[in-house]
Amino acid sequence: MTSHSHRGKFITFEGLDGCGKSTQLGKLAAALRSQGMIVVETREPGGTQAAEKIRQLLLNSRTSPLAPNTELALMFAARVQHIEQIIAPALEAGKIVLCDRFTDSSEAYQGGGRKLGSKPVLELHRILCGDLQPNLTILMDSDVVASVRRARRRNKAQAESASNHASDEGRFEKENRAFFERVREAYLTIARREPRRVKLVDARGTISQTHKKILELVQKTLKPAK
Ligand code: TYD
Repeated sequence: MTSHSHRGKFITFEGLDGCGKSTQLGKLAAALRSQGMIVVETREPGGTQAAEKIRQLLLNSRTSPLAPNTELALMFAARVQHIEQIIAPALEAGKIVLCDRFTDSSEAYQGGGRKLGSKPVLELHRILCGDLQPNLTILMDSDVVASVRRARRRNKAQAESASNHASDEGRFEKENRAFFERVREAYLTIARREPRRVKLVDARGTISQTHKKILELVQKTLKPAK
């Protein structure tokens, strides 16, 4: 895949684990649908059968050890399948694609958190993903300690309510505070580098305050250019 001229809109959500992305993505999807738009909700790693299998491998806390480059390669393996099967066809059909995480996550977590740097991530994105860029990225900025605490609590509850280990998605949440500080810094660096695409939203307010801010940004992106 090399060119990405499409009629749809590609909107991604980014932020630390537990920052409330998924809730906001769902609320945005509902709001856009109520205005008659056709919306596809999806997530990374995952979104297709093969990519969800890769997700299980990547997020299960029993997958250990895993070299940082293996982690990066698997994130991209899942992403390529996801683009080919879900994202590109939906955009070509003129739909709005809302995606929970995309390549910025690889730059923040593998590039920043795992210290691989941005270069391999951006190169892989160009080579494997035809450099597909979101029209808008909502970066939800939140407090490191509070977000990770929330993510750990949720993951523990999920794992306890399931009878097998398939729903264990806690591998990243086991990382320490320094790791998540690096992830947050890497995100902020991306936002400074690409201010037109990446919009920083303070995620520390209430759910409805944050929703309102996101909806305003999205409406601007969806308005036809004059
Ligand atoms: P997600 O399900 O969005 O977790 P949460 O709801 O807790 O935010 O993402 C799963 C994990 O995968 C998350 O810890 C971030 C990590 N991840 C990467 O490290 N690199 C990537 O490229 C992607 C897409 C996710």
